[in-house]
Order: sequence, then structure tokens, then C-alpha cells
Amino acid sequence: MSLLLVEDLEVSFRTTWGPVKANEGISLVVKEREILALIGETGCGKTTFGKALLRLLSRNVKIEGKILFLGRDLLALPEKEMRLVRGKEIGILLQNPSLSLNPVLSIGDQIAEIYRCHENCGKKEAKKKAGEMLVLVGIDPSRKSEYPHQFSGGMLQRVMVAMGLALRPGLLIADEPTKGLDPQTKQQIADLISGLVRQEGSSMLLITHDLEVAERIADRAAVMYAGEIVETGEAGEIFSSPKHPYTRALLESLPGKGLRSVPGQSPSFVSPPPGCRYHPRCEFRMEACPKTRPRLLELEGGRQVRCLLYEKKTGDEKGGKTRCRS
Ligand SMILES: Nc1ncnc2c1ncn2[C@@H]1O[C@H](COP(=O)(O)OP(=O)(O)O)[C@@H](O)[C@H]1O
Ligand SMILES: [Mg+2]
Repeated sequence: MSLLLVEDLEVSFRTTWGPVKANEGISLVVKEREILALIGETGCGKTTFGKALLRLLSRNVKIEGKILFLGRDLLALPEKEMRLVRGKEIGILLQNPSLSLNPVLSIGDQIAEIYRCHENCGKKEAKKKAGEMLVLVGIDPSRKSEYPHQFSGGMLQRVMVAMGLALRPGLLIADEPTKGLDPQTKQQIADLISGLVRQEGSSMLLITHDLEVAERIADRAAVMYAGEIVETGEAGEIFSSPKHPYTRALLESLPGKGLRSVPGQSPSFVSPPPGCRYHPRCEFRMEACPKTRPRLLELEGGRQVRCLLYEKKTGDEKGGKTRCRS
């Protein structure tokens, strides 16, 4: 069953240079008890998507489409009700822990504050729960009186996990939870978050440009390019046999393959290339690619891909029926 159902989401920012369409026609599902990784290069619109789900974007934004969480349209909820959804029903780990935490409040107090605000707990009860949360994320509770600057990057990320999961939300949105960490700490944090999410029977939208982390913990993956979803499917399938030329190029950039970055530059959001947005960088470019905007094709096994190569192949070597979404 789907916990979160996003339909045709359009997010654009009004800027001096014109509208920046950071998310265009995004339709995605997060099922119950699954980890969905949203992957793509920096600047492709991942954070915008995560924040749009909780209506946390700046005022210069226009959001259209549907965001259904357990059947309720979050875009239609009054702000007062939305405040109850944030944290309690959908938790969020924002991209930069040192900017998200209050430097003059102890770690223990910051976690306790969540219980005081959302669950009306008394001081003592809130502190007790905060201590339990610290234990859960592997921090010695005797460190509860310390301040953010006394914690390492990995430890701060653990604090963020404790805060994101404090109210046991059904869905956790984790935006680049392993960014800036060394490889060993990265794995520990990825395993910690996925372990807790699975233990709680929750779901997670893991936003990351780190493909190794996504491959390690995600059940399904969605690949974003220039504000659009270009491929979705089971994570194992996407990583072992990527279909979209962009996904292929992205996987080529993994350290094991020599860290070759995707050739070419990400396109402008103000005036994206006509036709397929990826065509100027694509090594499989065909004549039709600059002229025709590809649809998100549904292939066998729940796989989706937005590429004209597969529209051509429909019915012959792909050997299956293909349906289209616009
Ligand atoms: N508040 C904003 N105003 C104008 N443009 C924005 C704003 N926030 C993000 N953008 C633009 O939206 C695009 C996507 O950004 P973002 O969602 O942060 O990408 P990612 O998380 O994948 O790195 C970028 O071009 C970025 O400059
Ligand atoms: Mg981001």
C-alpha cells in the first residue's frame, strides 16, 4: 500500500531571471515499510522535492499537483494542521546538521524540546525520552548536556537521526544524511538510519547524490535529472542494469569505476533544452531527441524510463507491452 503518493508535482521559484522550474511533472510513490532513494547530481531538484512535500520552501515558490499522505492532500491542508504532520507523521533530516541545530542549546534539551512541544510532556519525562533516543542512535546519554560544537560530524548526524525519529513518524525524509562524512562513518550512519526505520516499520525517502549509500540501503530508486524523474525501479535492478543513458553515466561515476563524472554540464532550469533534457549530454542521442519530449514509459516489472530509445524498442527486443505516462 502506498503511504505517500505524489502526482504531477510542479515546483517553480520566481526569480529575477524568470521562473526556475525545479520539479516538473513528478509522480512518485513511497510504499509502506520501504526505503525509496531519490538520486541525481547536485542541483537537479532533490532537496526542492523533499521540502515541497512538507511545504518548507521559501515564499517565492509556486507548487502545483497532489501530495497525498495516507490519502490526505498535504497541499490542501491548513498550515495549522500541516504543523502537526511535520515531525509527528513525517520526520525530516535536513541537509546540514550544523545549520539545523541550535548552537546554544544542549543536545539533550533540543531533543527533549520535541517531546515538550508535540507530546505535551513534562520536563522530566521529556528528558528521559531524549536520553532513550540518544541510546537508540548510539550516543552515550552522559553527553546530553554537551553542545553541538562538541560533537563530530558523524555524531551530529546521529543527533539529527534521533530528532528526525523522535516522534516515530511513519515516513522519514532524509536529505543527504551522509554528506561530508568519511567512508566508514558514512556506512555506519546509513546502516543506523535504515536499521531504525526498518525496526520501527516506517518508510524513508532517502535523498542522496551518494549512489553507494543508495545501493546499500534502498529497496527502490528514482533517478532525477534536471527536475524530472527519468527512471524508477527496484534498486537492485537499477544499479545492476540501468536503462536510462543518464543513469548509466551516473553509475559510471562510482569510485569503483574510476570516479568519472557525467560528461557535460547540468542544463539551466530557466531555459531547459527542448525535447529530452538530457540530449545535449547523451551518448545515445538520436535525431528525434532534441525535438520530442520523452514520456515516462512503464516497462515490465514496475520499471519506468523516460527515453526515446525504449519507445522505439517497444514490442520487439524488450518483448513486452509498454504503457505511457505523460
Ligand atoms: N529558494 C530558491 N529560489 C530560487 N531557486 C532555487 C531555490 N531553491 C532551489 N533553487 C534552484 O532549484 C534547483 C534545484 O535545487 P535543489 O533542489 O537544491 O537541488 P539538489 O538538492 O538536487 O542539489 C537549483 O537550480 C537551485 O538553484
Ligand atoms: Mg540538495
